[in-house]
Amino acid sequence: ERVLILAGGLSYERDVSLRSGRRVLDALKAVGVDAELRDSDVTLLPTLREDPPSAVIIALHGAIGEDGSLRGVLDLCGVPYVGSDARSARLAWDKPSTKAVLVEAGIPTPEWVALPHDRFSELGAVAVLDRIVDRLGLPVMVKPAQGGSGLGATVVHDKESLPAAMVGCFAYDTTALVERFAVGVDVAVSIIDLGEGPIALPAVEIVPSGGVYDYAARYTAGVTTWHAPARLAADVSVHVAEVALAAHKALGLRDLSRVDLIVTPQGECTVLEVNVAPGMTETSLLPMAVQAAGLDLGEVLAGLLRRAAS
Ligand code: DAL
Ligand code: MG
Repeated sequence: ERVLILAGGLSYERDVSLRSGRRVLDALKAVGVDAELRDSDVTLLPTLREDPPSAVIIALHGAIGEDGSLRGVLDLCGVPYVGSDARSARLAWDKPSTKAVLVEAGIPTPEWVALPHDRFSELGAVAVLDRIVDRLGLPVMVKPAQGGSGLGATVVHDKESLPAAMVGCFAYDTTALVERFAVGVDVAVSIIDLGEGPIALPAVEIVPSGGVYDYAARYTAGVTTWHAPARLAADVSVHVAEVALAAHKALGLRDLSRVDLIVTPQGECTVLEVNVAPGMTETSLLPMAVQAAGLDLGEVLAGLLRRAAS
């Protein structure tokens, strides 16, 4: 019975992933699970075939860990893992696809335009940016269609700042997602399923000191204040949990996820994105939610592993 924690890899979120992996390792060891942390490269393949673990936890963030590729390989090797299957991971990883599924399911998400880089050379940058602002207004959020940890994401308040935001975004992906900026309280709802169906853990409220929840605000101690549970009215909390669960189900997700949303001043929610490999670092949201629920991270992960391996 040996559990493999996969982390690292070569995505832009490598460092975050290594931190997640170490936290998962410590949490599992504390509850007596025999776990091994493994950086993820091609040498993983012979291990999966010749010395298969009893189950895998994917603490890999970014491309291969979150986009379904690795999950497809694990399926091929017959190695069980905690988390969503390849198909739904791919849906959740691609933000425009996620948003299309949400809209189809009647779940609110900010209005958006997905913009492949090629469109600029076809139509000219000025025309493209004019159209976006005409359609969405300002401010907008610019982010890579596929990405994480706030990398390449910028809030744009005036038209003059849009080209630089686009350049920053295209450094990470060939398609940009431009969204109407949703004003309200930033919350994250973590979802776990220990065998009795998915449940929403207490929402965690995010208050970055500089106003923007960027990479530094996510992973530098002291830059962001988190409230777990979020400071929401009771009926709003219930609504937020329902919307998050609906998003998890609409995307066909399994075992665990984290749904990031904005709660508007009227108590409505709009879903920004859904994560199939939520961060597990010391400043990450799912572990905070687990603690706010009075649960132990190691016990929760061990429960998810037992379920995956059964
Ligand atoms: N992409 C980071 C790891 C997160 O969603 O927590
Ligand atoms: Mg994300």
